[in-house]
This record gives sequence, structure tokens and C-alpha cells, in this order.
Amino acid sequence: MPTHFPEEQALRELASVFEETFHSEPDFLVRSPGRVDLIGTHTDYNEGWVLPAAINRSAWLAVKALPTPLVTVHAVDMEEQVAFRLTDLDAHKTLAGQDLPEWARFPAGVAWSLQEAGLATPGSQIALSGNIPIGAGLSSSAAVEVAYGLAWSHIVGWKVDKMALAQYCQRAENLYVGVNSGLMDQFACLFGQAGHALLFDCRTLEWEAVPLSNDVTLIIADTGTRRTLSTSHYNERRADCDAALEALKPHLPDIKALRDVSPDQLETHKDAVPEQPYRRAAHIIAENERVRAAAAALKNGDTAGLGKLMDESYISTRDLFDASGPQLDAMWEASQGHPARLGGRPVGAGWAGCMVFLAKTEGCDAFIEHLEQRYQAEVAIEPTIHRVETADGAQVVEVN
Ligand code: GLA
Repeated sequence: MPTHFPEEQALRELASVFEETFHSEPDFLVRSPGRVDLIGTHTDYNEGWVLPAAINRSAWLAVKALPTPLVTVHAVDMEEQVAFRLTDLDAHKTLAGQDLPEWARFPAGVAWSLQEAGLATPGSQIALSGNIPIGAGLSSSAAVEVAYGLAWSHIVGWKVDKMALAQYCQRAENLYVGVNSGLMDQFACLFGQAGHALLFDCRTLEWEAVPLSNDVTLIIADTGTRRTLSTSHYNERRADCDAALEALKPHLPDIKALRDVSPDQLETHKDAVPEQPYRRAAHIIAENERVRAAAAALKNGDTAGLGKLMDESYISTRDLFDASGPQLDAMWEASQGHPARLGGRPVGAGWAGCMVFLAKTEGCDAFIEHLEQRYQAEVAIEPTIHRVETADGAQVVEVN
């Protein structure tokens, strides 16, 4: 095993658990990061822009290839183990004939998606662990999907383009797990660069790394509440956006997605769009402008401008997209009034989980204290609030 790679200790420990569980050494290890999205709420599946960054919280795998078409995953943190056949993935069943538990739909779904693309997915023994809180908006799902995708790519040695791998993983989530998510999370997980946010155009798939100044620090504020995407209103929001698009098309025949609609065009044709889809579209169209303005602010060193746009994103997410929640609102309110605070918004889909705050590095510890005290006084839930570092994208770590 090489020395000095991110999260070295955690991966070494996982390798030991693998040995205890499967009585042999893993062939290799994978680290696959979560992400924060600085701005761009629900713009990705509307073919718009997003500005995420991979973070130093990851899913980890220890993997050994096997000659039989069977996958056994030992989920260390959940103390559960599941085996499934690679030859019968459409059944969504374990080897014992039970429904796959939710967490096992990710490896099965990625295998299903890769097979559908004509890529081989050999059998394997896998130990899974990680430190991305689940259902908190930090992209734990995409991190595990990408980790499994990279594992199969490494076992077989197929040379698959990273963007294509991101898309296969997204397809697994859309069609096997049943969440109609966009491409932001898998993209950020694979393309992350330490010290940078990534401006990603979800239509053209072009992207650009934008440096984050050391003068600012990213803070994750976990409200202590959780949602699961499959049971949340995520798919309903997507349907509302599609309904707005369909209502606008007769008036704007050239549009293919809400990305193509300007704020003026939406106002001109407001009466053609039902009230709820209109509010969703108004959010998406303005948010797309904010994402590009945020990237420009970052490039110009205007961190106060970036913070202000993050706050505007939160207000629009709350009031037009109805994707905030009582505890997220309480956290945002609790953050007000501190000199180190620059801005903040919910990460990921919204409704519950975490917020990301942008703070001046000087004074950010006092800001964290301010936030903890004020949130707890308001909500009576102890929050977990800490700095987070940006990180490089997912990687395979050889054992020998
Ligand atoms: C989740 C989805 C992403 C994106 C965000 C909202 O994280 O996985 O594709 O839609 O929500 O911006």
C-alpha cells in the first residue's frame, strides 16, 4: 500500500476488517468523496449550471475480485452483510431471496447499469465503510455508486471515460434505485479538486475548476434531521419543472429545458404556466443566473458577493422551490448577525440534513460557536457543525 494518501488510516482499518470478515486480503481499496454544492439548487436536471466541490468525507471500499458471478458486501458501519447474484439483477433480490435492503440497491444498481452498457462486472467481496452522514445532503449515495463503479472498472481494466462512469452511476440511481437525480453529485465525486469548486454545465458537460481562496472556510452545519431522496418530494419537484417546460413550449418552441428560458420570457408567458410549476421555474431560471454569477464572484475574489448569492439561493429554495425545512430555516436564522458569516444555504436536495456556510477563515471558530449555541437554543437538537476541506475526486488505492 502506498503511504500518504487521503484518509489513509480509515482505509487501513477497513482493509483489516475485510481480512477478519473474508479471511483474505483485499486486492485494492477505493476512496470516493461526498460533496458540498456552493450554489445551484435543483438546476442540474434542468440542464443548468452547478458549483459543487468534493469534500474530505468519503465512502471507502476494500475489494477482492472473485471468479463467481456473486457479490458479497459487508457494510461495516451498519453491521449488515448482503450477497446478490450478478446474473439476476432485475429481481432486486438477495441471494437468500429477500428484497435488497436500500443500501444494497446501490452496488446492484451500478452493476446493472454497467452491464446494460456492455461492461463486465465480475464477482467480488467488498467491505464498505465511510464517514459521509447518510441522507444529509452531502451525496453519500453518489459516493458509494462511484466507488462501486471504480471498483469494477479497476478489476476488469476497462478504460471508461470518467464522465461516462458518472453517467452510468446516475443511471443506476435513476432507474434502479428510483430517484430521478441529476448528474451533479457523481460528477463532483469523480472530478473534485482539492482547493477548488467546480463550475459544471450540466448540458454540455463542460466544466472548470475555480480556486477557493484560503481567506474563506466552508462550514457544514448538520441540523441533525434526515430525509431519504426516494421518499422525499424530489421526484415531484422534477415533475413540476417538466410541467413548467411543457406549458412554455407552445410559446417558446426552441426551448429544450428550463435552462433555455430567460427571466423575461418566463414573465411574458406567466399566465400559460400553472401556479406551482411557475414558482419552481422562477427559482430554476434565477438560480442558473446566480450560479454563473457566483463562479464569477469567486474568480474575482469577491467572497462577500458569493456569500450574498448563497443567501439568495437559500431564500429562493425556501420560498419558490419549497425545498427548505423548519430545522434548515432555524439554522439559517441562527447564523445571522456574526461578522465572519458570508452566506449559507442547504446542501443537496434540501428539506433536512446539512447547510453549507461560507465564512471568513479569520473568525470562523467563533462563528461555529455562535451557530451551535443559537441553533440549540432555538431547536433543542444538538447540531454537528465543523469546518470541511475540499478534496480530490475518487481514486483507487493499490494494496501492494
Ligand atoms: C440531489 C441530487 C442532485 C441535485 C441536488 C439538488 O443531491 O442527487 O442531482 O439535483 O439534489 O440540487
